[in-house]
Amino acid sequence: MKEYDFVVIGSGIAGLAFALKAARHGSVAVITKRKGADTNTAWAQGGIACVTSDEDSFELHVRDTLEAGAGLCDEAVVRAVVTEGPERISELAEIGLQFDKREVSGHRELDLGKEGGHSKRRVLHVRDATGKEIEETLLRELGRQSNVKLLENHMAVDLITAAKLGFATEDRCLGVYVLDEKTGEVETIRSDRTALATGGCGKVYLYTTNPDIATGDGVAMAWRAGVEIANMEFIQFHPTCLFHAEAKSFLISEAVRGEGGILRNHRGKNFIKRYDARGSLAPRDIVARAIDAEIKRSGAKCVFLDITHKPPEFIRKRFPHIYQTCLRFGIDMLKQAIPVVPAAHYQCGGIKTDMNGATSLLGLYAVGEVACIGMHGANRLASNSLLEGLVMAHRAAAAAVHRRPGGIQKVALPEWQSGNVQDVDELVVIYHNWDEIRRLMWDYVGIVRTDKRLQRASARLRNLQREIREFYWNFKVSVDLLELRNLAAVAALIVDSALCRKESRGLHYTLDYSQTDDRQFKHDTVLSRW
Ligand code: SIN
Repeated sequence: MKEYDFVVIGSGIAGLAFALKAARHGSVAVITKRKGADTNTAWAQGGIACVTSDEDSFELHVRDTLEAGAGLCDEAVVRAVVTEGPERISELAEIGLQFDKREVSGHRELDLGKEGGHSKRRVLHVRDATGKEIEETLLRELGRQSNVKLLENHMAVDLITAAKLGFATEDRCLGVYVLDEKTGEVETIRSDRTALATGGCGKVYLYTTNPDIATGDGVAMAWRAGVEIANMEFIQFHPTCLFHAEAKSFLISEAVRGEGGILRNHRGKNFIKRYDARGSLAPRDIVARAIDAEIKRSGAKCVFLDITHKPPEFIRKRFPHIYQTCLRFGIDMLKQAIPVVPAAHYQCGGIKTDMNGATSLLGLYAVGEVACIGMHGANRLASNSLLEGLVMAHRAAAAAVHRRPGGIQKVALPEWQSGNVQDVDELVVIYHNWDEIRRLMWDYVGIVRTDKRLQRASARLRNLQREIREFYWNFKVSVDLLELRNLAAVAALIVDSALCRKESRGLHYTLDYSQTDDRQFKHDTVLSRW
């Protein structure tokens, strides 16, 4: 059994920022499923929303966030994240991150981008690859810490809790079982402070802007450990994912619309104005629904994002990554509109935490996309998530350092029991179930919902979960099997949460209850196993 003062599961912005702060106070293990940089963060294009300009104010950023959140944000949390943002951003700069600047009247100032729902330009960015730069900067800094162990190709299987071990004390997290993908062995790692920073669950849907690692592992593990989960019905669909048979999950940043890109239908018409006066830069939920309706109405396969009216040198400099990637697929965005469709992008709900990232299980913290702290409410404002991850990692690490759970006996944790299980004999079952979940979630639990579709999804998911459970107990665990088990659990949580909300609000839109009902539903949807 290995032991660390802190265990962090996930290596995106929130996990790495937490690890760096915790490392000042003890030993840290960072567990990550693939390579350190295989994270949602590394794919983030737009940037970090933060008030840095004299023309902007904390008040405006708070107001925009609350407005996007459609009545469900926790204002105290929003204020804390917005006002603490600049200090955390300057820490990133101290370890070498350089945001883009531009020349204004003879001096250089931050080049601020604009995205949907923001009343001011406030998005700091590094060209159109902000997340990648942040990820590399944080990993570099992590590599300088002698007391941090980065365990790549390791996947957390389940949290070890006092309740699961049968202790009659207050329940708490004691560590985690971790699969070493290279050896196929499950190791026991002990820690009385564990932070989940596993990101979101985009892979639960057929079409997503997320990388393959986004399989909802943190939420699923927390749920199995009896931790409260909130607001899982609020899945954000990004309006503009590249539509191309060979392109997998490639995002066309909202910053393209922020710089003047216009959404057109297959007839070349700027159609969003028919749905919302703000046009292509209306909030994401509205734009994604408008595209969905337009595609369904016209029978076209996609819509188009047109920025050809901008000077070619501007496009190449501001969007080098998008420009090059589109070119690879034979699309020259200097001359032609980019074909796009909406795709699952961000999980606004997650593991319920307090303002310091503490979950309902003692010793367990959750930070970043995996957590639901009340920042995003029913709809996240673009580019607020990297900011939230950074600020909350700081707050949670401070809380974990100062609130070491006391009073537990140093009992040895039981080793993982694999019993007589064998290697999975038919991988086809795993892949089939995986595809089935993703397709049924897309068809029945997508941008527009109905009770009937949700109930249908619920019934199928229960059957799939039964089958997966059998597999899990009878065969050796593998990353594929663990991911499938987690995907199924998270899909069921999304459906159950959506069935609870008999109204439309933010990202949850249902034809059966198309109005917002503040009287009955202006509250979080909190699910608990116990
Ligand atoms: C984007 O670049 O459009 C994504 C930004 C975000 O989701 O916050």
